[in-house]
Amino acid sequence: MVIRMESTSYDLARRAAHDAAAARAFPGPDFRQVLQWIHEIVKPAAYVEIGVHSGESLALIGPGTLAAGIDPAPKPGFACPEGARLYAMTSNEFFRRHDPARIFGGRPVDLALIDGLHLFEQALEDFCNLERHMSREGIVAVHDTVPLDRETSSRRRTTEFYTGDVWKLVPLLNRRRGELEIATVMTGPAGLTLIRGLDPACDHGRLRQQAAGFRDLDYDYFDRFVRNSQRTIPNHFAAVGAFCQKTPVQSTRSSGAATPSA
Ligand SMILES: C[S@@+](CC[C@H](N)C(=O)[O-])C[C@H]1O[C@@H](n2cnc3c(N)ncnc32)[C@H](O)[C@@H]1O
Repeated sequence: MVIRMESTSYDLARRAAHDAAAARAFPGPDFRQVLQWIHEIVKPAAYVEIGVHSGESLALIGPGTLAAGIDPAPKPGFACPEGARLYAMTSNEFFRRHDPARIFGGRPVDLALIDGLHLFEQALEDFCNLERHMSREGIVAVHDTVPLDRETSSRRRTTEFYTGDVWKLVPLLNRRRGELEIATVMTGPAGLTLIRGLDPACDHGRLRQQAAGFRDLDYDYFDRFVRNSQRTIPNHFAAVGAFCQKTPVQSTRSSGAATPSA
């Protein structure tokens, strides 16, 4: 989700303006409602969530789901839902120290959410680390992929409403991993991109090298080449279900393949 801090170090009036702009940009159910639909549709046996904060998104797991929630600084008072276990560490540390297959009794991961540190290179690292442990039919969801504006998506955080530059993961994967199925649900406050067709044996070293030119893309690049060219999913249950269940998804825009090289 968009990070909203409890601290008052950011201008709260500007946060209200950003919230209002996001609500206008993304009418309809918000990202957590969409995530709940995905849990209902996919019914994952094994779920990994990177970035749990207060536990609101982790609480959406269904009764048959085992979950690992990862966060170095969960909100005080965080309560782990039944079936989930909290790993109070960074996602990099988690993947260094733990093997998800062991956590889930030998099963691969069916569904994962990336909503941790909101920098492109970390979102990429989270994706690479997760993909190695996903089932081939699994889905990785990435939050905050449709930035609101330049300021709230900058690499240096100055606002309470903040997506960072996670958006760059989508054009990178569209360009360098053409075999993946990638589509973004236009849900508030900042989009939710779903990725399937995963390959646990992928050469992630190569992908990391290819990412070099994407880190320094400017917000203008998103506005000019990504915003209106990425594949999208309408923000309703049936469309999300169609994507998750492998039937052809109703895309409202053309493929992102037309974006220039970065
Ligand atoms: C936007 S919040 C997550 C919100 C949660 N998914 C929800 O919707 O209820 C982002 C969280 O990521 C955590 N975080 C920051 N850096 C991280 C890292 N390197 N690995 C995992 N989590 C991280 C923060 O502590 C924060 O709680």
